[in-house]
Amino acid sequence: MRIAIASDHAAVHLRAHLVESLVRQGHDVDDLGCDADARVDYPDFAAAVAGAVVTQQADRGILLCGTGIGMSIAANKIVGIRAALVHDVTTARLASEHNDANILCIGARIAGPLVAEECITAWLSTAFDPRHRARLAKIAAME
Ligand code: RB5
Repeated sequence: MRIAIASDHAAVHLRAHLVESLVRQGHDVDDLGCDADARVDYPDFAAAVAGAVVTQQADRGILLCGTGIGMSIAANKIVGIRAALVHDVTTARLASEHNDANILCIGARIAGPLVAEECITAWLSTAFDPRHRARLAKIAAME
């Protein structure tokens, strides 16, 4: 799968860990930053990953910041993005199954690297359940 990933300064170490893990699993990873030594504004990176997803340069996106909250708020401003903030494997699985989330957001100050890795695996390996399609259509209509 083609995965675009980005973080702000609060999640640089988690991003490096996850990029390595995703590449090892055979994914095509587009790492959109940020640089390790810079303090940055998370909306800029949310916009970059969301843009990659809506233009289909990436199949899915991953956004990391301190809590994951800022990234999820920002990414969800982009039409066509369904960004889900998750903290555990169950919410990550349901983000695919119920919400067809095309971006996963994780807080590096909240979830450790192993939990984050397992969340991503659950999210990528779970199929969307079409029984929830009408609800997603209502969300799209709100856009
Ligand atoms: C940066 O200090 C922090 O605000 C950011 O990483 C994130 O947690 C925002 O939601």
